[in-house]
Amino acid sequence: MKRVITYGTFDLFHQGHYNIIKRAKDLGDYLIVGVTSESYDIERGKLNVKDSLLRRIENVRNTGLADEIIIEEYQGQKVSDIVKYNIDILVIGSDWRGKFDYLKNYCQVIYLERTKNISSTQLRSQGQTYSIGVVTDTTWDGGIVWESKYVSGLHTECVFSEDLPIAQKFCEKYELNSFGDDFSLFLEEVSIIYIHLLSSDKPAYVRKSLEAGKYVICDAPITIDPDELSSLFSLARDKNIMLFERIPLVYLRAFNQLVWQTHGGLIGNILAVKASISQEFFHENGNLTETIFYSLCSVIKILGTKWLDVQLHEVGDQKEECSYLVITIRYPQSYAMIEITKGLDVEDNLQVIGSNGRITIPADWWNTGYFEARLHGTDPLKRFCFNFEGNGLRYLLQEMMIMISDHRTDNARLFPEESITLAHMIRKCLEMKPV
Ligand code: CTP
Repeated sequence: MKRVITYGTFDLFHQGHYNIIKRAKDLGDYLIVGVTSESYDIERGKLNVKDSLLRRIENVRNTGLADEIIIEEYQGQKVSDIVKYNIDILVIGSDWRGKFDYLKNYCQVIYLERTKNISSTQLRSQGQTYSIGVVTDTTWDGGIVWESKYVSGLHTECVFSEDLPIAQKFCEKYELNSFGDDFSLFLEEVSIIYIHLLSSDKPAYVRKSLEAGKYVICDAPITIDPDELSSLFSLARDKNIMLFERIPLVYLRAFNQLVWQTHGGLIGNILAVKASISQEFFHENGNLTETIFYSLCSVIKILGTKWLDVQLHEVGDQKEECSYLVITIRYPQSYAMIEITKGLDVEDNLQVIGSNGRITIPADWWNTGYFEARLHGTDPLKRFCFNFEGNGLRYLLQEMMIMISDHRTDNARLFPEESITLAHMIRKCLEMKPV
């Protein structure tokens, strides 16, 4: 009896999927179809899958061709499946030609020509697309244009700037459809506004966009005035739309898993959080407020919003252009310490210290796909590894698209109360900063 296996995501099931399953079946007597799990797709950077795993399995089952359906959950699973299920032939589409030759040591590998003119990607692009418009006063960061390409249903289309030549330059540089300096016209063209301003006008543009009923993503912090921020979140709630602060960190799987593990007691009671960040690595334009905001955000996600006191101290050498800034935050049962340096050699890591061990993100913790836990006792090092692609913004965009399609407006990754707490904290910090 010849046993055949084939794999796929099988999103928005189409004729190409049916054809390859049929042809795989015809090559043997028993067919196993592997369907990728949601977490595996996210890990390999495929963020645009529409159908749930259950629906994708159901669609494969409905072909009546699969004798068995399994779930593909991790990279490297194919080898163990081939051994475990005693497979004779692996069948895969020609778009993968050569990629699975290494499996020829275990079974026959057959690449079949893809069915022409159909793919899940093509079908996804026929669904509803949301257009993003950028509000900016600079041309140096077009990350949103690039990152939105990785999330289905999104497209960055136009740019607004009060300074028309900047809008034109941005439009040409990042190949958008249009540019302008008339905000009302701009609002009519798009459904999502991304506000990326170095000036202090952010809250005004957030307000105007929300009033027009648009979803808004704004660089963080939107404002350090807690009352103003609170009123913007209320406005969003009244309009039944979402206001996002751009903090990719809280949308990263690794960071969410870290928070979940610490709250779940992996390292016992949490006594301290320590985060170090080199200004020049974090932010090429050196925006200190944003750096402090990010660091504080990591702290409140781990230790919560019930802080008691915050202190800021700074030493530096203007001639050498270096500085060392330290922020300490006191909680009822724990402490946090943030080091922000400029022109100095420090390790950019984040540590959570608990009564039963410690969790560390070794480097560039704000862009992380990895953390490790050292526990007291027998099995000391646990590693947690997730995919991380681009600059992280795509994970926020993906969450936003899921919320839009589910008609949800409650952002569980960063609650408005958390943003407002951050505004209180950062205002206090900046008041203490020597000028
Ligand atoms: N396949 C095919 N012909 C097509 C589309 C897919 O033979 N027109 C095959 C793929 O080569 C693969 C299997 O079907 O062996 C599952 O493919 P999958 O990646 O799930 O489908 P795609 O339509 O290629 O999805 P996407 O556009 O998201 O890459």
